[in-house]
Amino acid sequence: MNIDLYERIWMWGVGVVLALFFTSTAVAALGHQIHPPSHVETIPPGQALSDPRFRRQGVSLDQRGRVHARVVGLMFTWLPPEMTLPADTPVTFHLTSIDVIHGFQIVRTNGQSMVVPGYVSQFTTRFAAGEYLIACNEYCGVGHHTMAAKLHVVPASQWKSPAREVADVR
Ligand code: CUA
Repeated sequence: MNIDLYERIWMWGVGVVLALFFTSTAVAALGHQIHPPSHVETIPPGQALSDPRFRRQGVSLDQRGRVHARVVGLMFTWLPPEMTLPADTPVTFHLTSIDVIHGFQIVRTNGQSMVVPGYVSQFTTRFAAGEYLIACNEYCGVGHHTMAAKLHVVPASQWKSPAREVADVR
Protein backbone atom coordinates (compact mmCIF):
# COMPACT_ATOMS: atom_id res chain seq x y z
CA MET A 1 0.00 0.00 0.00
CA ASN A 2 1.39 3.36 -0.97
CA ILE A 3 1.01 6.07 1.66
CA ASP A 4 2.06 9.57 0.76
CA LEU A 5 5.02 10.97 2.76
CA TYR A 6 3.00 13.84 4.29
CA GLU A 7 0.24 11.41 5.19
CA ARG A 8 2.79 9.26 7.00
CA ILE A 9 4.23 12.27 8.85
CA TRP A 10 0.76 13.23 10.08
CA MET A 11 -0.04 9.65 11.10
CA TRP A 12 3.16 9.42 13.13
CA GLY A 13 2.51 12.86 14.61
CA VAL A 14 -0.95 11.85 15.74
CA GLY A 15 0.45 8.63 17.19
CA VAL A 16 3.12 10.49 19.15
CA VAL A 17 0.62 13.04 20.55
CA LEU A 18 -1.78 10.26 21.61
CA ALA A 19 1.07 8.36 23.28
CA LEU A 20 2.05 11.56 25.15
CA PHE A 21 -1.54 12.11 26.33
CA PHE A 22 -1.97 8.53 27.54
CA THR A 23 1.42 8.58 29.26
CA SER A 24 0.75 11.88 31.04
CA THR A 25 -2.68 10.62 32.17
CA ALA A 26 -1.12 7.41 33.50
CA VAL A 27 1.69 9.33 35.27
CA ALA A 28 -0.83 11.74 36.86
CA ALA A 29 -3.16 8.95 37.99
CA LEU A 30 -0.61 6.36 39.13
CA GLY A 31 2.40 8.50 40.02
CA HIS A 32 0.81 11.64 41.47
CA GLN A 33 -2.49 10.14 42.67
CA ILE A 34 -4.54 12.73 40.79
CA HIS A 35 -8.07 11.43 40.31
CA PRO A 36 -11.47 12.88 39.52
CA PRO A 37 -12.86 13.94 42.90
CA SER A 38 -16.28 12.37 42.82
CA HIS A 39 -17.25 8.79 43.16
CA VAL A 40 -20.88 8.08 42.53
CA GLU A 41 -22.37 8.25 45.99
CA THR A 42 -25.80 9.80 46.23
CA ILE A 43 -27.69 11.46 49.06
CA PRO A 44 -31.15 13.04 49.28
CA PRO A 45 -30.10 16.73 49.23
CA GLY A 46 -32.98 18.02 51.37
CA GLN A 47 -32.12 15.57 54.16
CA ALA A 48 -28.34 15.82 53.99
CA LEU A 49 -28.08 17.45 57.42
CA SER A 50 -29.97 14.60 59.07
CA ASP A 51 -28.24 11.87 57.05
CA PRO A 52 -25.91 9.75 59.24
CA ARG A 53 -22.98 10.63 56.94
CA PHE A 54 -23.39 14.36 57.53
CA ARG A 55 -25.36 14.69 60.77
CA ARG A 56 -22.09 15.61 62.46
CA GLN A 57 -19.99 17.80 60.21
CA GLY A 58 -16.30 18.28 60.67
CA VAL A 59 -13.37 16.06 61.50
CA SER A 60 -13.68 12.43 62.54
CA LEU A 61 -11.57 9.29 62.79
CA ASP A 62 -12.83 6.01 61.40
CA GLN A 63 -12.29 2.66 63.08
CA ARG A 64 -8.90 2.26 61.43
CA GLY A 65 -7.76 5.71 62.58
CA ARG A 66 -8.01 7.39 59.19
CA VAL A 67 -8.97 11.06 59.20
CA HIS A 68 -12.18 12.20 57.51
CA ALA A 69 -13.60 15.69 57.05
CA ARG A 70 -17.31 16.01 56.34
CA VAL A 71 -18.50 19.33 54.97
CA VAL A 72 -21.92 20.55 53.91
CA GLY A 73 -22.24 23.50 51.57
CA LEU A 74 -25.25 25.78 51.63
CA MET A 75 -26.00 29.32 50.61
CA PHE A 76 -23.74 31.00 51.81
CA THR A 77 -21.53 29.07 54.18
CA TRP A 78 -19.61 25.86 54.71
CA LEU A 79 -20.51 23.70 57.69
CA PRO A 80 -18.40 23.60 59.76
CA PRO A 81 -16.95 27.10 59.15
CA GLU A 82 -13.67 26.10 60.82
CA MET A 83 -11.69 22.84 61.04
CA THR A 84 -8.36 21.74 62.47
CA LEU A 85 -6.48 18.91 60.77
CA PRO A 86 -3.13 17.18 61.31
CA ALA A 87 -0.27 18.00 58.94
CA ASP A 88 1.28 15.45 56.56
CA THR A 89 -1.60 13.04 57.12
CA PRO A 90 -4.01 11.80 54.46
CA VAL A 91 -7.43 13.37 54.98
CA THR A 92 -10.49 12.18 53.09
CA PHE A 93 -13.01 14.92 52.41
CA HIS A 94 -16.69 14.12 51.96
CA LEU A 95 -18.68 17.02 50.58
CA THR A 96 -22.30 17.62 49.75
CA SER A 97 -24.69 20.51 49.21
CA ILE A 98 -28.23 20.93 50.45
CA ASP A 99 -29.24 23.57 47.92
CA VAL A 100 -27.30 24.51 44.78
CA ILE A 101 -23.95 23.68 43.22
CA HIS A 102 -20.96 25.07 45.13
CA GLY A 103 -17.24 24.80 44.51
CA PHE A 104 -15.09 23.66 47.42
CA GLN A 105 -11.59 25.03 47.03
CA ILE A 106 -8.84 24.89 49.61
CA VAL A 107 -6.84 27.80 48.29
CA ARG A 108 -3.22 27.13 47.28
CA THR A 109 -3.58 23.34 47.60
CA ASN A 110 -4.77 20.61 45.25
CA GLY A 111 -7.90 20.15 47.40
CA GLN A 112 -10.81 21.13 45.22
CA SER A 113 -14.11 19.69 44.12
CA MET A 114 -17.49 20.66 42.80
CA VAL A 115 -20.16 20.15 45.45
CA VAL A 116 -23.38 19.01 43.86
CA PRO A 117 -26.74 18.54 45.62
CA GLY A 118 -27.72 14.88 45.57
CA TYR A 119 -24.12 13.63 45.42
CA VAL A 120 -21.24 13.14 47.81
CA SER A 121 -17.93 14.35 46.40
CA GLN A 122 -14.88 12.69 47.84
CA PHE A 123 -11.15 13.23 47.59
CA THR A 124 -8.12 12.51 49.73
CA THR A 125 -5.21 14.87 50.18
CA ARG A 126 -2.64 15.97 52.74
CA PHE A 127 -1.40 19.38 53.87
CA ALA A 128 1.67 21.08 55.22
CA ALA A 129 1.09 22.87 58.53
CA GLY A 130 -0.43 26.32 58.12
CA GLU A 131 -3.64 28.28 57.74
CA TYR A 132 -5.75 27.77 54.66
CA LEU A 133 -8.74 29.55 53.24
CA ILE A 134 -11.60 27.45 51.91
CA ALA A 135 -13.46 29.40 49.27
CA CYS A 136 -16.47 28.75 47.07
CA ASN A 137 -15.40 28.94 43.44
CA GLU A 138 -18.74 28.24 41.80
CA TYR A 139 -21.16 31.15 41.55
CA CYS A 140 -24.07 30.23 43.83
CA GLY A 141 -25.97 33.48 44.41
CA VAL A 142 -25.72 36.97 45.84
CA GLY A 143 -23.65 35.87 48.85
CA HIS A 144 -21.22 33.73 46.84
CA HIS A 145 -18.22 35.93 47.59
CA THR A 146 -18.81 35.62 51.35
CA MET A 147 -18.91 31.81 51.32
CA ALA A 148 -15.67 30.84 53.01
CA ALA A 149 -14.28 28.70 55.80
CA LYS A 150 -10.99 28.34 57.62
CA LEU A 151 -8.71 25.34 57.77
CA HIS A 152 -6.02 25.14 60.44
CA VAL A 153 -3.39 22.50 59.84
CA VAL A 154 -1.21 21.79 62.86
CA PRO A 155 1.71 19.38 63.32
CA ALA A 156 0.27 15.90 63.88
CA SER A 157 1.80 15.75 67.39
CA GLN A 158 -0.18 18.84 68.44
CA TRP A 159 -3.43 17.73 66.87
CA LYS A 160 -6.26 16.89 69.28
CA SER A 161 -7.78 13.90 67.56
CA PRO A 162 -11.47 13.16 67.99
CA ALA A 163 -12.54 9.79 69.40
CA ARG A 164 -12.73 7.00 66.84
CA GLU A 165 -16.16 6.31 65.47
CA VAL A 166 -17.86 3.27 66.90
CA ALA A 167 -19.31 2.25 63.57
CA ASP A 168 -18.00 3.25 60.20
CA VAL A 169 -20.22 5.74 58.44
CA ARG A 170 -18.48 5.17 55.14
CU1 CUA B 1 -21.20 28.68 47.21
CU2 CUA B 1 -20.42 30.16 45.53
